[in-house]
Amino acid sequence: MGLDGAELTWLGHASFLLKSPGGKYLVIDPWLEGNPKCPPEFYGWDKADYILLTHGHFDHMGSAESLAKKTGAAVLCNFELATYLGSKGVANAVGMNKGGTVEFGDIKITMVYADHSSGISTEHGIIYGGEAAGFVVTLENGLTLYHAGDTNVFGDMALIKTLYQPDVALLPIGGHFTMAPKEAAYAVRLLGAKTVVPMHYGTFDALTGRPEALADLLAGSEYEVKVMEPGQAVQ
Ligand code: NI
Ligand code: MN
Repeated sequence: MGLDGAELTWLGHASFLLKSPGGKYLVIDPWLEGNPKCPPEFYGWDKADYILLTHGHFDHMGSAESLAKKTGAAVLCNFELATYLGSKGVANAVGMNKGGTVEFGDIKITMVYADHSSGISTEHGIIYGGEAAGFVVTLENGLTLYHAGDTNVFGDMALIKTLYQPDVALLPIGGHFTMAPKEAAYAVRLLGAKTVVPMHYGTFDALTGRPEALADLLAGSEYEVKVMEPGQAVQ
């Protein structure tokens, strides 16, 4: 894929581990134990400098509290999730909102729009989890990755292209709760990212979208569909 010193590992579903060229560990939407697609060797994973949460659903933050407590990582998420995690004893939850950028040295993390919901499931039912988001991450080497979170395609993906020029887009394709390959193929064109990594498919029976369908829709275009295997690091 050509990450110029960075290393990306898919942990199944929407969970990704990104090691920056400077050796920082970013974990996006950690859902490890309980994630049918997470390789068991990553259960109990204990390295993170920054944890990014796109929204409050269990399949995106199921392991966030435990990983944050184990590592002391800064948790970047919307204000409501940060307040919730703070109430659970997470020491360094950084609440932000769309359009905001947090910088750690030469790493920049911007929260962007997503078209989805964000309630948190608790023993007392669903509580308000703010709004769903995506993230644009620019690493020390200038490489820019966009993690869409859960979302449908939306026209303002064109703004993400204009403002941030993502090199790699991590896009949900499973359908049912998010966009499917038809919408994702359109999203790729709006985003202009040369490499697209499909995610959020195959985990549950309802998530029927497949990378082959996305690849067919983009055949002959300038865009490459990079199908990752959970647990396999790509550089
Ligand atoms: Ni969701
Ligand atoms: Mn989801």
